[in-house]
Formats: sequence, C-alpha cells, structure tokens
Amino acid sequence: MHPSAALKPALDALAQAMDNRFDRLLQLPEDPRRRLYQAMRHATMGGGKRMRPLLTVAACDLFHVDKDRSLRVALAVECIHCYSLVHDDLPCMDNDDMRRGKPTVHKAFDEGMAVLAGDGLLTLAFEILADEATHEDARVRAELVLELARAAGPAGMVGGQAMDIAAETSVFDLPTTTRLQQLKTGALISFCVEAGAIMGKAGPDQRTRLRGYAHDLGLAFQITDDLLDVEGDSARTGKAVAKDAAAGKATFVSLLGLERARQQADFLINQAIAHLSGFGQEADLLRAVARFAVERDR
Ligand code: IPE
Ligand code: IPE
Ligand code: MG
Ligand code: MG
Ligand code: MG
Repeated sequence: MHPSAALKPALDALAQAMDNRFDRLLQLPEDPRRRLYQAMRHATMGGGKRMRPLLTVAACDLFHVDKDRSLRVALAVECIHCYSLVHDDLPCMDNDDMRRGKPTVHKAFDEGMAVLAGDGLLTLAFEILADEATHEDARVRAELVLELARAAGPAGMVGGQAMDIAAETSVFDLPTTTRLQQLKTGALISFCVEAGAIMGKAGPDQRTRLRGYAHDLGLAFQITDDLLDVEGDSARTGKAVAKDAAAGKATFVSLLGLERARQQADFLINQAIAHLSGFGQEADLLRAVARFAVERDR
C-alpha cells in the first residue's frame, strides 16, 4: 500500500481540522483589513499536506494531551509554515507563481499584501500559543513560545533561508548544506515533536529519543523536497519543479546526485524510526509519518 494511503485518514482529518480552525481564526472583517484576511485565508486554507500539524498531534498523543490543545499548537505551527511559504515564494526570494496548486499569494493579491499576510500569520502563531486555552500552566506556554521563537527565527528557519540565499552565490560543502537544511526545514519539524514533549511534560529520556527522531526526519524531509524538485510532477506537488538547479541552490541532490541523495533519505528515515524503539504502539503514527516523509510524491 502506498504510504499516503496508510496515513490518508489521519492526514484528511487533520486537513479538515486545520481548515475549520483557520476559517474561525481568519473571519473576514468588515473594514479595510478585509484583503489582508483574504490573503491569509488564501495562504492557509484548502491545501498543503498538513504534515507538521499531524506530527504535532502525533507527538502530543504520545503523552495523552487533550485534542483541542494539541490542535491549537498544530495550528500555530501551520501558521508559521504558511507564512514561510508566502515569503519564500516572493519575487525577491524564489519567485514562484504556484503553490499548493494555486497562484502564490503575491500573484493572487500583490507583493505588499503577501509580505503582510506572512507577518500576520507569524504573529498569530505566538498569540495562539500564549493564550491560556493552549495550556493552563504559564510555564508550559512560555516554553512553547520560547522554543517556537528559536525554531522559526535567525537561529532556525529564517537563518536557514538566509543560508539558502547565500548558497546561490557560493559553493557549499556537505556539512554546510546539512546545516542549511537543518535550520531551513529541520528546526520547525523538530519543534512539532518537541511541542508534544513540552505539552506532555515528558521526561529527559523521552525527549532525547524524540529529538533524535525529529532531527533525522527533518533532514530526510528536505532531501525528499529536493528530490521532488528534480523528479517530481508539478501536477502532484502543486508547485513548479526544476527550480533548484536553475537557481544554483545547494541541495543534497546537487552534491550527491539523485541515487545517493535517495539512499541518504532512506538511511535517515530508518534511523529516525530506530530512535523510537523505546516506545510501543503509541508511536506508530510517528513511524508512519516518517515513512510518508520520504515516500511521498507531493
Ligand atoms: C514545503 O513544505 C517547504 C519545505 C520546507 C520543504 P511542505 O512540503 O510541507 O509543503 P505543504 O505544506 O505540503 O504545502
Ligand atoms: C522552503 O524551502 C523552506 C521554507 C519555506 C522555510 P524551498 O524553497 O525548497 O521550498 P519549496 O520547494 O519552495 O516548497
Ligand atoms: Mg526557498
Ligand atoms: Mg521555494
Ligand atoms: Mg524545494
């Protein structure tokens, strides 16, 4: 069975839950901010695999976190992710016209609205986490905010995006490219898993194992994204393909070639799953997400 088939019910349920929550979060106001909200809805609703929300909920489930609360954290993560895509697609960044099978936000609206929609989503993520409804313990909320800020900021995703730009004009070796990927994509994926441990007040051993899992998953996920840029079908991925080589991006594919990059992704995913050996059946969803991350075609 194709991995997306095995995970399909869980991914479909998450897609529905995220769309419902974004619909409530981003009700259109009857004032001149309406276009901004329309742009944020365009960026967040009706598309995307919702893998980070699923990962967040799966990690929370390990610790029996209340579903409404884990979905709030998942929503915050997806706000950050969608903001990063809107800005990543801007003409000054990757200059893309298609995302999730639709025109990118700056195409459907304009560049100013795309910058602001991204800013709005970035800020909303922290508003969601800091709200008492996310957790009654203020220390838990502060830890979530701190860790998400680290994952999304200059020491994480934004730093990785800056390295990605630098890679266009200089030659990066494998260790530097690995670090780029870890920051650009791995940091937010790691937060999803860490958030489960924070919400569930997991012990140090469990946190160590989950960190190992998330580290390997994040790298394997980005290698797969880079493979799809070369081998994928834009009708499936919903975005342009064959962009990285043209832009001179440093990827595992450019450094290792297709076959070795694929082997590396498979190796990392087996290692990610091995980190979960101390968990029983309750971690099966995390194992399935790991396989999906490298076997996906979109
Ligand atoms: C794409 O992420 C950008 C990367 C960090 C590689 P996804 O492949 O998760 O994009 P969506 O959310 O499914 O559109
Ligand atoms: C984007 O990486 C990573 C972030 C948005 C943080 P890519 O530029 O490879 O993502 P795609 O391929 O456009 O989805
Ligand atoms: Mg990019
Ligand atoms: Mg891009
Ligand atoms: Mg890409």
